[in-house]
Amino acid sequence: MPSGHATKELKAATVLVTGGGGLVGSRIVAQLSRAGARPVVLDRFDAYPHPVRDRFEVDRNAAEVVLGDVRERATVQWLVSRADFVIHAAAYADVAACTRRPEVAFAANVHGTQNVLDAVTGSAVKRLVFVSSASVYGDGAPGTVPRFSEDRPPAPISVYANAKVWGEHQVRLMLAGSGTEHTVLRYFSVYGEPQVPKPGSHSWMVPWMAMSAQAGRPLRLNGGGAQVRDMVHVDDVARATILALVADGAAGRTINVGTGVPTSVREIAGLIAAHFPGARLVETPMPEGDPRGGCADTRRAADLLGWHPTIALPEGVDRYVAWLKATPGVVPHWFTSPTASTASADVAA
Ligand SMILES: NC(=O)c1ccc[n+]([C@@H]2O[C@H](COP(=O)([O-])OP(=O)(O)OC[C@H]3O[C@@H](n4cnc5c(N)ncnc54)[C@H](O)[C@@H]3O)[C@@H](O)[C@H]2O)c1
Repeated sequence: MPSGHATKELKAATVLVTGGGGLVGSRIVAQLSRAGARPVVLDRFDAYPHPVRDRFEVDRNAAEVVLGDVRERATVQWLVSRADFVIHAAAYADVAACTRRPEVAFAANVHGTQNVLDAVTGSAVKRLVFVSSASVYGDGAPGTVPRFSEDRPPAPISVYANAKVWGEHQVRLMLAGSGTEHTVLRYFSVYGEPQVPKPGSHSWMVPWMAMSAQAGRPLRLNGGGAQVRDMVHVDDVARATILALVADGAAGRTINVGTGVPTSVREIAGLIAAHFPGARLVETPMPEGDPRGGCADTRRAADLLGWHPTIALPEGVDRYVAWLKATPGVVPHWFTSPTASTASADVAA
């Protein structure tokens, strides 16, 4: 839950959350609602091949839910014209899927972002938060575990990251000096219940591994699992995002949202396997666009947002596994098919 200052600023404010039907967006919406704001969701609701709308409790927490696309100009303009704040989180949010289908990545992540910015420019929106990703940093030097500071020049190595870099630049280009403030957030690896995997994805490690272990399948270590991730819990991410909407010092700034703790993929697998006696690990090839990774320099988030992560990875994994064991029905049908590890079911453009 965000601080008292944020709660006061947001009381009765209308906050448009694009992608508010997704994992992070829906958690942002829940926290906004608890803070007394009026969250409005715009989402296509087709990021997963199985229904997640009820599971993510979108309709319960949002004041209004619009089934639509950020590429629909009239819809976006209508929603922005009624908003005090905008959080632009909608994206084709899967590195592997963006590599397979760059045209869909372009449509959602580039064209869609341009539409949102066109609508926000000249509007009465006080601030737009653009949700970007640590993937913009690309790889550090081989054999090192880089601590990425926000001033490091972007070096994207995937279609997904390219689109995020473009979005960041376009936000700054269009909104700097306009009547609408902007903040760019770079999320590191987000996890936490009720996250579920996407077919053919090599992201969403915690659900992939936990559901694999529960099904008696081996846990896949792409490239041997030496790459590191900064795993940040979705509750903490949502709180940081809401703080970024209202924190005075965040206007015009780019801020990492990570824990500062690097964990190798092999270690993450170990934390999960510990809950499933007999779980096996298997080494698999490194997929294209999968970065060696690093962790966040967290000083700016602490200084400008007063934000610190509160859920350490072992606790977050314990929570996730406990939720999964208590809610076995969340495992999607496609996941239980024998070809799930290689399945692909991308959304239409
Ligand atoms: N999950 C992570 O580890 C992570 C890390 C860094 C950044 N991010 C970013 O955080 C944001 C949220 O990601 P998430 O993990 O919740 O993924 P998600 O797929 O659960 O949520 C994204 C939502 O955007 C919606 N969407 C996609 N294209 C759309 C379009 N054209 N119009 C309207 N809605 C559309 C989807 O339906 C989905 O509900 C994304 O911008 C993503 O790139 C996520």
